[in-house]
Formats: sequence, C-alpha cells, structure tokens
Amino acid sequence: MKPIVLRNVTKRFEDVVAVNNISFEVEEGELFGLLGPNGAGKTTTIRMICGLLEPTSGTIRIFGFLQPRDRMKVSRFIGYMPQHFSLYEDLTVYENILFYASLYRVPYSVRRRRIEELLDRFLLTEFRDKLAGQLSGGTKRRLALATALVHNPPLVILDEPTSGVDPHLRYLFWKFFEELRDEGTTLLITTHYMDEAEFCERLAVMRLGRIIAMGTPREIKKMALRGELLKVTVKSLGFPEEALLGLRNVRAFRLLERNGDQLTLALLVDDAEKDLVPVLKELEKRGIQVISISPIYVSLEDAFLSLTGGLD
Ligand SMILES: Nc1ncnc2c1ncn2[C@@H]1O[C@H](COP(=O)(O)OP(=O)(O)OP(=O)(O)O)[C@@H](O)[C@H]1O
Ligand SMILES: [Mg+2]
Repeated sequence: MKPIVLRNVTKRFEDVVAVNNISFEVEEGELFGLLGPNGAGKTTTIRMICGLLEPTSGTIRIFGFLQPRDRMKVSRFIGYMPQHFSLYEDLTVYENILFYASLYRVPYSVRRRRIEELLDRFLLTEFRDKLAGQLSGGTKRRLALATALVHNPPLVILDEPTSGVDPHLRYLFWKFFEELRDEGTTLLITTHYMDEAEFCERLAVMRLGRIIAMGTPREIKKMALRGELLKVTVKSLGFPEEALLGLRNVRAFRLLERNGDQLTLALLVDDAEKDLVPVLKELEKRGIQVISISPIYVSLEDAFLSLTGGLD
C-alpha cells in the first residue's frame, strides 16, 4: 500500500479555495517535497493528509486507510511536525518527549531508551531538564522533530522543518532526513528553500491551491525552461548567427559573453547530456571552432520563480 495517495482533493474555507483539485502519490521510502509560495495550500494539504481537516471533496488514503475516517488508526503511522509546532512550554524537554511517547502509546519497555536515543540524536541531552518555553528557536525545532519521531513512524510529515533554522542546523536536519529515508522511512517535507528542494527525489510545486509542476528537480527545471541549457565557448570574430540557425537539437541560442575572439553562447536543447556530443559535432561540421561545451547548471530557484510567476 502506498504511504500517500491523493485523488482530486479540494478544500474550501468559505470563499477561499485553499486546495484546488490536486492529485499525487508518494511512494514508499521516498523523500517527497512540497514547494510553493506563501498561501499556496501546502499546510492545508498536509493537515488533510494527517486527518486534521476534512477535504471538501476528493479522497486521501494513507497506507490504504481513508482520511479522516480512519485517523485514529492512521495516527500511529504518521510522525507530524506542524509548521507552528505544538510543544508544551511548561514541560521540560524530557517531559515533552515523554508526553508524546504516551500519546502515541510507545510501549513502556522501550520508552526510556527511545527518549534517550532522540535526546542524543538531536543534541538535546544538555537541555533535558529545561522548560521548552525557555529554549531558543533552533532547539525548539529539534525538540519538535524529536516528539514527531518518538513512535518510530514509517511516514514522517514535516511542515517547514527548517524555517528560521541556522545553516549548520539545516545541514544536520537534512543529513538526518536522508538517514531516515535510507532506513526506509517515507518523508513528505515542505520548504521554501530551493537548495533543500534539490535534495528531494520528487517535488510537487503548488501555487494558488493547484499543483503546477511535479517530478524530479531535474524534470521540473526542464519543464520550466522548456529544455536544458548548454554553454558553448567558440572562437569567432563575429557572432556566428548563420551557422547557429537551423542547428538540429538546438531550439534557441543567446550570446552570453564576448572576450576577444572568444564567444560564450547559451544553447537551449532538449536534453543537455544527450545533445552535448551531437551539437558539438554539428558545430564543427559548420566550421565553428569549439573551445569548450558543457551543460549549464540552472538552480531550482530560477526554475521555481519562472513557474510561480516571480519572474516574467
Ligand atoms: N482555517 C482557515 N480558514 C480560512 N482560510 C484558510 C484557513 N487555513 C488556510 N486558509 C487559507 O488557505 C490558503 C492556503 O493556506 P496554507 O496555509 O495552506 O498555505 P501554505 O502554502 O502553507 O502557506 P505558507 O507558506 O505561508 O505556510 C491561504 O489563502 C489561507 O489564507
Ligand atoms: Mg504553511
């Protein structure tokens, strides 16, 4: 049974359509990212997946169980870290984890060991007797993550786990997410950070309640740019427009830089890896002396901006 299956899910809040007819599936052991600007509908989607909100229409299945109908059964399979987390500020770090351990019915025989393990893993041991309300933002995040994982859930859902977290801790979190994934846990993570989204195996990009793109980071970039880019440096006294026109595999080209008799061009192709050698050969056949040719790395950020309308 797949960890997450959404079919034509819509959520309306009076006159706001927060989620508009979305469908996607998350496979077992996948690290899946939900990306989108503020108000795109990410948190609403996640809350429906967790069974905390009922869809206006459509169906959500978690490991085959229907949400929210089966939410009592489903809750033990899900570890959820909300965007605005739910720590008990008057309880200590240890007590917070203990509280969630009892909520999720972690057996007494393993509770202590499990809590120690989490304290250790999230560098919380030195804060164990401190009240949650007195912790710094980053430490609170670590604690929130520990509480979400206390019952060792096979599906972990994290709503912006790294927002407001310093770069060092972000790195630790992602290392940890990848470790979890390698252990076979399925993860659904929302983020605003593009460099993080690059770590996801697949992404769904949301905007105004809809999914506007879905696929691997590479597929999404390709879709946004309608192709991939090659950087070619050639030796030429003038712009070799004639020779570039009608090149097979090349859909568009642009001059990036001129440096003496060396020109650097960007060529838009279908597939940067597959088209590299044919384009090189074709250029040489047309008498253009190629000095270097390589794929251009486009950041997901640029692709995302062009998809979500941040740029033209
Ligand atoms: N309980 C609610 N009542 C009314 N409208 C709501 C409610 N919850 C969310 N919305 C609206 O639904 C839309 C989607 O909100 P949501 O919180 O899901 O977006 P998001 O992608 O998580 O945004 P962010 O990146 O800011 O967290 C927004 O227009 C929001 O105002
Ligand atoms: Mg949100």
